[in-house]
Amino acid sequence: MSTQHKTRKSAPAAAPSNGKAARPLTQAERLAIQYGKGDPLVRSSTPGTQPVLDPRQFVPREAHKTRAAVMKLGLPKRIRALVRQHGTPLMVLDRASLIAEYQRFKRLLPRVELYYAIKANPHPDIIKTFRDLGGCFDVASEGEMRHVLAQGVKPSRIIFANTVKRPEALQFARKAKVNFATFDNEPELYKIAKHAPGCRVLARLKVSNLGSIVELSLKFGADQDQIVPMLSKARALGLKPEGVSFHVGSQCTNFENYQRALEVTAEIMRESLERGLPFRTVDIGGGFPIRHFKSETVNVETFANPMRRELNRLFPPEVQIIAEPGRALAGPAGLLITRVVGRSIRNNKNYYYLDDGVYGDFSGIVFDHCKYEFKTLKKTQKFFSILAGPTCDSFDTLSLSEELPELEVGDVVYVQNIGAYSCASALTFNGIPPAKVIVV
Ligand SMILES: Cc1ncc(COP(=O)(O)O)c(C=O)c1O
Repeated sequence: MSTQHKTRKSAPAAAPSNGKAARPLTQAERLAIQYGKGDPLVRSSTPGTQPVLDPRQFVPREAHKTRAAVMKLGLPKRIRALVRQHGTPLMVLDRASLIAEYQRFKRLLPRVELYYAIKANPHPDIIKTFRDLGGCFDVASEGEMRHVLAQGVKPSRIIFANTVKRPEALQFARKAKVNFATFDNEPELYKIAKHAPGCRVLARLKVSNLGSIVELSLKFGADQDQIVPMLSKARALGLKPEGVSFHVGSQCTNFENYQRALEVTAEIMRESLERGLPFRTVDIGGGFPIRHFKSETVNVETFANPMRRELNRLFPPEVQIIAEPGRALAGPAGLLITRVVGRSIRNNKNYYYLDDGVYGDFSGIVFDHCKYEFKTLKKTQKFFSILAGPTCDSFDTLSLSEELPELEVGDVVYVQNIGAYSCASALTFNGIPPAKVIVV
């Protein structure tokens, strides 16, 4: 799995090889996988089978044709050049940064197999980039599964890591040979056994999310005492129980969450083995933090040493460790460039309206509980300012307290490290489309 693959120059959907050259998918085959054409399981009205992306928003490299050299320019020059070519709002993902973050993760945690959680940012060119580095993928739905398969990823490199799955999605997974999933309750096990018999399964453990920005244990994970009985039940139902998964919460800055989760998982491993159950895999989920603000100090690097130590202390080498990072891989690559489309003075404060907002690529303010560092290309005196989005909703306000230079209509406001949970949840509200998203 960790084999490095050479980057292909053409072949939009060539399957990665295991030494064997694979025939690139034709455009028709790619579309058939993605949109379910000709698939007897899928009718066009079946929810979950529509394309997950609008190609006018997530623009593929073949269409946007941005020269890679632009990314070598200093930031102000780069932003001006990108705005000249594409206008705004524009989300640019730096391919070199995607590669660097992936390789950094692999270097810091060599034992950990990476399953990129595409929910963070499903741009096809991101998936192809990680595919070519030998990466695997975490999908949450049939739509995401189809999308990843359509980028030429082998089904054996996919985990269906939503603990609650539609029966139709499981049927599709079975047909597509995606044979690895998580669950956290017994009714789900019966569903998996019925629609995807023989599937490899991981039981998701509820773990502390203390200090994480997005708390996932509010909704997911079973208590420790339920895990071994459920793994045993999985086996009785003809499934292949493999181990445990957990998620410490997204943007987790508290290593103790991982520490405690790993200790409990090791206890479960011992109990499983005593009961004669196989224990092959630990899925440490996502949650790895990034620096949204320059002043923040914790990132993947901070966790790597204790994580490596704990993994080696608690789990024998034959236990496979996998992770499902989303934010840590896609976040640092993202640069969102917006422009001021209106300005006023309200209650004695500068009020700037940008061409992207809470309904668009700043949707992470709502769904990801995220705060961003807004920057401009001006170096003049700063004033207390308010930033808002372009829609007719007052909720569409980005910040009530920014120190910004005096801005005019047309001036750039940009945000770095915004590649995850931003464009992925952007809407077209008030008829205002979200930013064009490109990987360069
Ligand atoms: C099951 C699962 N895996 C992985 C992730 C990715 O988490 P992160 O972006 O914090 O790494 C999420 C995020 O919601 C998730 O729900």
